[in-house]
Amino acid sequence: MTDQETTTIRQIAVIGAGAMGAGIAQTAAAAGLSVTMLDVDNAAVSRGMQMIAGSLDRIVKKGTLTATDAEAVRSRVAGTTDFGAASAADMVIEAAFEDESVKCDLFRRLDAACQPGAILASNTSSISITVLAAATNRPERVIGMHFFNPVPVMHLVEIVRGARTSDATYALTESLAHSLSKTPIAVNDYPGFVSNRILMPMLNEAIFCLMEGVAARDAIDTVMKLGMAHPMGPLQLADFIGLDVCLSIMEVLHHGLGDDKYRPCPLLRQMVAAGKLGRKSGEGFYSYAQR
Ligand code: 3HC
Repeated sequence: MTDQETTTIRQIAVIGAGAMGAGIAQTAAAAGLSVTMLDVDNAAVSRGMQMIAGSLDRIVKKGTLTATDAEAVRSRVAGTTDFGAASAADMVIEAAFEDESVKCDLFRRLDAACQPGAILASNTSSISITVLAAATNRPERVIGMHFFNPVPVMHLVEIVRGARTSDATYALTESLAHSLSKTPIAVNDYPGFVSNRILMPMLNEAIFCLMEGVAARDAIDTVMKLGMAHPMGPLQLADFIGLDVCLSIMEVLHHGLGDDKYRPCPLLRQMVAAGKLGRKSGEGFYSYAQR
């Protein structure tokens, strides 16, 4: 370990105020950390702050958090569009758009802006941590921290070691995950890691079943809910994750593993091309217009 290396994490910056970024910011603030949540425009930042407020209200209504404590959590998250605000962080968790060139560019800029000892983590669902690390001058302090949606509810964090991630960075990230009350699982840097390598082909296969007329939408979802005790059927879950995200992960698996068993279903491609992205666009396999 060099003297510059961060050894305690108190201040976190989260890049991206979408569902994942807001969920990570809320979870870190609930654990007592100071959080800066960044996005490119004020509308995105304020949507992220509203998501946090909505999720906290839900927990307060359930009776497991007081309104005063919820307000304290909210006050520990500062939303901003100022990229320079990331420079104060001991650790940055990037949860931006799932695109390799967007993320590489962000990692280059974060490397220039952040303290030399700060850890740069990515919440990527499938992009190589080794590739993101290579965009920086601190590959030993770059790591994957893959959360699951909804972040305040889901216990798992996949911790992804890139080819040059140091043991010290791994240990600090694992201990952060514990302090966020999550269960960290170590995985190596292969396309889709473990979670999406297994989950996405299952969702893709459900879309093939629909396209080929093996069964209707509700029947496919009911089979997996009642037969396999999944909380959501695969088509409902694909809508929840976002069909564009599912397609992009399938492309990473197909390209990265070079095996046609990962080819994205043509119906998935067609729905994404039509702008039917699931819950976030109001329509996917289900319609969300009235919700
Ligand atoms: N914030 C806070 N609490 C929330 C919440 C949120 N955003 N969303 C749900 N909850 C809480 C509810 O308050 C409730 O708490 P309780 O059980 O203590 O009363 C509990 O979660 C269950 O919520 P609901 O009763 O409203 O609804 P459901 O029982 O239908 O559960 C669900 C909702 C937790 C989303 C459940 O359907 C589920 O687990 N679905 C599968 C989610 C999943 O697989 N996520 C992973 C996606 S893959 C991913 O993220 C990786 C990426 O790389 C693609």
